[in-house]
Amino acid sequence: MSLTVRKYDAVVVGAGGAGLRAALQLSEAGLKTAVLSKVFPTRSHTVAAQGGVGAALGNMGEDNWLWHMYDTVKGSDWLGDQDAIEFLCREAPGAVVELEHYGMPFDRNDNGTIYQRPFGGHSMNFGERAVQRSCCAADRTGHAMLHTLYQRNIRARTQFFVEWMALDLIRDASGQVLGVTALEMETGEISILQARATIFATGGAGRIFWSTTNAFINTGDGLGMAARAGIPLEDMEFWQFHPTGVAGAGVLITEGVRGEGGYLLNKDGERFMERYAPNLKDLASRDVVARAMATEIKEGRGAGKDGDYVLLKLDHLGPEVIDKRLPGIREIAKKFADVDPVKDLIPVVPTVHYQMGGIPTNYFGEVVAPANGNPNSVVPGFYAAGECACASVHGANRLGTNSLTDLLVFGKASGDSVVRYLAANRGHKDLPKDAADLTLSRLARLDSQKGGENVSEVAKEMRRTMQAHCGVFRFPDMLVEGVKKIRAVADRATRTEIKDKSKVFNTARVEALEVDNLIEVARSTMVSAEARKESRGAHDRADFAKRDDVNWLKHTLWFKDGDRMEYKPVTLKPMTAESIEPKVRTY
Ligand code: FUM
Repeated sequence: MSLTVRKYDAVVVGAGGAGLRAALQLSEAGLKTAVLSKVFPTRSHTVAAQGGVGAALGNMGEDNWLWHMYDTVKGSDWLGDQDAIEFLCREAPGAVVELEHYGMPFDRNDNGTIYQRPFGGHSMNFGERAVQRSCCAADRTGHAMLHTLYQRNIRARTQFFVEWMALDLIRDASGQVLGVTALEMETGEISILQARATIFATGGAGRIFWSTTNAFINTGDGLGMAARAGIPLEDMEFWQFHPTGVAGAGVLITEGVRGEGGYLLNKDGERFMERYAPNLKDLASRDVVARAMATEIKEGRGAGKDGDYVLLKLDHLGPEVIDKRLPGIREIAKKFADVDPVKDLIPVVPTVHYQMGGIPTNYFGEVVAPANGNPNSVVPGFYAAGECACASVHGANRLGTNSLTDLLVFGKASGDSVVRYLAANRGHKDLPKDAADLTLSRLARLDSQKGGENVSEVAKEMRRTMQAHCGVFRFPDMLVEGVKKIRAVADRATRTEIKDKSKVFNTARVEALEVDNLIEVARSTMVSAEARKESRGAHDRADFAKRDDVNWLKHTLWFKDGDRMEYKPVTLKPMTAESIEPKVRTY
């Protein structure tokens, strides 16, 4: 079959914050840049980011990027790579000021500087007390950010392919990445987007779980494509449960609520975080707060008729603060919990929110994979940024606000790396003859399958399995059983059949292709979680209650081929700062 080939200097897959920031760097450098997105760019999941972007601007009192770095390393439970974390925290203030200059409508202080609020795990003077570091636009920071970056890309003449889904990565025999195959969702047309450099910014994959703050589009497409192309996935056992999802609905209630002075209560009206984190209390890091909430519920102190949630109190902030700083939260609470937070408590539960692992990169945004004895060998022509990537700055637990910081800093860094790479590597390489074979065979199988598995039943079984076997607390027998079950679901996913074969709008086909990606993420998560025999950050095992730096201060790498694990060391040496040595983590 002959396919249309569209040639670009660079192709960016995903139009959330990381993709838009990367594309801007490329287009402004004069490169012919295409951005593919399953949805209109300003509807990408970054739009749902609420509470702010972390940067040590020091607008509300003293702050220092070294304190931000310390908090991030500690938040990561020492699994984050300290060179990448230094890069993130040093670059953050510049990245935020740059966005301000692009016209981002941040909230302001009376003196005109950007308003900053406290957020979980962020402290001054190496853990002494909470600091105000989160730069926000009320509780709609991601929304403001996406609009700012999209408009700037239009000005820079970035070319958008809206409602296009990338399907597979194209690599030649040497392993170099030469672009992607893609589906135009409206027409069903398959094309090749040939590129001298390819950046993945496809976001997260929270949809592997039953209950998540993630949008329906968060199906781990970049991770699935990378895994099928032989790239390992790093640290996939680490999933963040955001403490405050609306009970029963999963919708996010920003940590900014607690930053502004809200706090959690159990059914007895006790402010229980004082027992779990005496210093930072409700502003301890997310894994600590989520576990405390789950413990309260497990031990019978949950609220409601089934005792299965706790309560978030913010009525004491008063309607003026709530309407000025948290207007979206008031709206969400009314719509999804039928309560008005100016007078009522909001029922909340820990809810899957963010994947700390992903496609392995260095802090230049270059994708790395083991080759010739080097665990961090660069894959030529391939870059990743944002939630789909693992730089690794979040390690075993991400601090709130660092996701937006990550996508700005590493979006730009990956763009800069591509500009440098393309200056040194001119011209397109020829596409291999089999460039689209994998994609075409996947589609042919879907279209010809008879009596196969129902796509949404397979997806439901995957979500049920992940939710039951890989939650806030993890148990050895449940993990072993979970691996068996998820492998069985993965097997079923190879026989999915689409009933509606109409190629117009392709909803059934897109759902099946998304399940192909989700299943790789689910399998890598379960297998990696079973393999890691310790508790660290968001990965909490009943049989190994403690962190084990002797045996497990290392990253996991999961390979689709053989469903197998390898490991690589954590980088404890920063770029210029002093190394932050592992110690017991308390808040
Ligand atoms: O709570 C929030 O506003 C979420 C922020 C984040 O995940 O960084």
